[in-house]
Amino acid sequence: MNITFKPVDEGDIEFLYNLFSERTKYPEEIRFEKKDIPLYEEHTAFVERFLKRDHEYQSWYIILYDNEKVGSLVLKKDGEWGYHVLMKHWGKMIGQTALDWLIKQHPDKTLIANIKVENKKAQHIAEKFGHVLVSYTYRREPTNTTKDIPNKE
Ligand SMILES: CC(C)(COP(=O)(O)OP(=O)(O)OC[C@H]1O[C@@H](n2cnc3c(N)ncnc32)[C@H](O)[C@@H]1OP(=O)(O)O)[C@@H](O)C(=O)NCCC(=O)NCCS
Repeated sequence: MNITFKPVDEGDIEFLYNLFSERTKYPEEIRFEKKDIPLYEEHTAFVERFLKRDHEYQSWYIILYDNEKVGSLVLKKDGEWGYHVLMKHWGKMIGQTALDWLIKQHPDKTLIANIKVENKKAQHIAEKFGHVLVSYTYRREPTNTTKDIPNKE
């Protein structure tokens, strides 16, 4: 097993889109809805903006497994990081190796992981690599998504 990393470049746009789109096939508790997946053109513009360094991302890497693209790893300027591995490669220590590598790349940076309550695997890995729970985020969805409640005159 050989896990390596390379900075994202123009040639990774399609792979990253496919990786992102796979979120609609994740196990139900962490699945994304189709409406949350950007259009290909929007995604392309997002990556191109990163490549021009006009972006909130500090670093963005492709994770390679025996030289095959299998995931991506992101670090934002504010320290928040995230990673995604193609489902067919889950459970092969790729995620943990990526996080370990990220920590070693940025030993002086405070790292932040925003992880869904249901995502027990990602929580386990974050804790295993030294992250501690510091806050709960509460969210209230609107009860009426079609229109605002009109003001009473
Ligand atoms: C999270 C993700 C990157 C992990 O990558 P991976 O290569 O599958 O993970 P690894 O094989 O390195 O490690 C899996 C670890 O989680 C543990 N694990 C698996 N399922 C688990 C569960 N339901 N609850 C708790 N721990 C679990 C495994 O036992 C293993 O830990 P161990 O080595 O201490 O036993 C990958 O599953 C993924 O892309 N998930 C979807 C995207 C995502 O959730 N990203 C995280 C948001 S920051």
